[in-house]
Amino acid sequence: MGLHKGHFRIISSGHYTPEHILSNRDLEKIVDTSDAWITSRTGIRERRIANGENTSDLALHAAQKALDKAAYDKSKIDLIIAATFTPELRSPGVAARVQAKLGLDKPGLLAFDVNAACTGFIFALNIAERLLKGGSYRSALVIGAEVISKVTDYRDRNTCVLFGDGAGALILEKDSKKEVFFNVSSRSDEDLILYVDQYINMNGPRVYQFASRVIESSIRELLQFGHFDMTGVHKIIPHQANMRIIESAAKALGVPLESFFVNIQKYGNTSAASIPIALDEMLEEETPLSGEKVLLVGFGAGLSYGACALTF
Ligand code: UT7
Repeated sequence: MGLHKGHFRIISSGHYTPEHILSNRDLEKIVDTSDAWITSRTGIRERRIANGENTSDLALHAAQKALDKAAYDKSKIDLIIAATFTPELRSPGVAARVQAKLGLDKPGLLAFDVNAACTGFIFALNIAERLLKGGSYRSALVIGAEVISKVTDYRDRNTCVLFGDGAGALILEKDSKKEVFFNVSSRSDEDLILYVDQYINMNGPRVYQFASRVIESSIRELLQFGHFDMTGVHKIIPHQANMRIIESAAKALGVPLESFFVNIQKYGNTSAASIPIALDEMLEEETPLSGEKVLLVGFGAGLSYGACALTF
């Protein structure tokens, strides 16, 4: 699929993060690290950790907030896609659990998960767009939800300071007037520089290089394909993995750092949830958008990357 143009309208968004905060100072007591190292190398100050809640609980809260915000009739939803690499069960997936918890039993409703790590939410949006376009579906609930704390090794300072738990959701409807552009792709990762078995394993510097390169190239390709430039872009919402990656992407693209929405200091890296959480927080802070574009850009295990231009 790679680069393509599609259509949908964004109806509403919501996000949810667990109450419990794990600060850098807390981590200093667990591993050989320091607040100064974590803050200066990543931009992260604290992250949220689920306590007794699992991935579909977080996903449900985010979805419910999106429904409530728009007073949306949930019986209209005929497609639920959840991006996650941390489902609580191997099967059924998080989307199916959210369907059950919302009490949706509509004939033909499709609920399934997408595992594309930190790019998962953009892959899920891409799939939702194709299914809405196909004609059988009209209303999609797309969720990114993770409880990464359950696959984090709190003895490994290379990874445990980076990740947190959370969920974000978007409700979309078929609408041929609202353009959306995608640039999505999977690259082979023969060396497995980022993978999860019992715990997350990562060659940080190599993932860092990949991420820094791909944010710039995927956005440049998207702008060229869509025949628009940064003047029509209200904000860029990047996957929140490292503040320094975002700074180097801003420099490479020749745009001010303020063009990027950043909340990594509060939540760390929440993988597939980071983009929808940030998008919802941005929308809560802004006056309603009308006609502006918002760029989403993600990257992660696979390797995978995806950029997307939404029209509000
Ligand atoms: O969402 C999926 C995508 N993931 C990413 O995009 C993550 C990309 N990678 C990164 O963000 C960075 O590579 C990290 C934040 C993971 C690491 O930062 P870095 O500047 O690349 O550090 P490094 O791995 O090169 O390590 C530098 C030093 C090492 O010590 P020596 O060997 O130089 O003595 C590490 O052992 O920093 C040490 N170190 C730490 N020190 C204190 C690594 N983690 C820590 C820590 N606290 N938590």
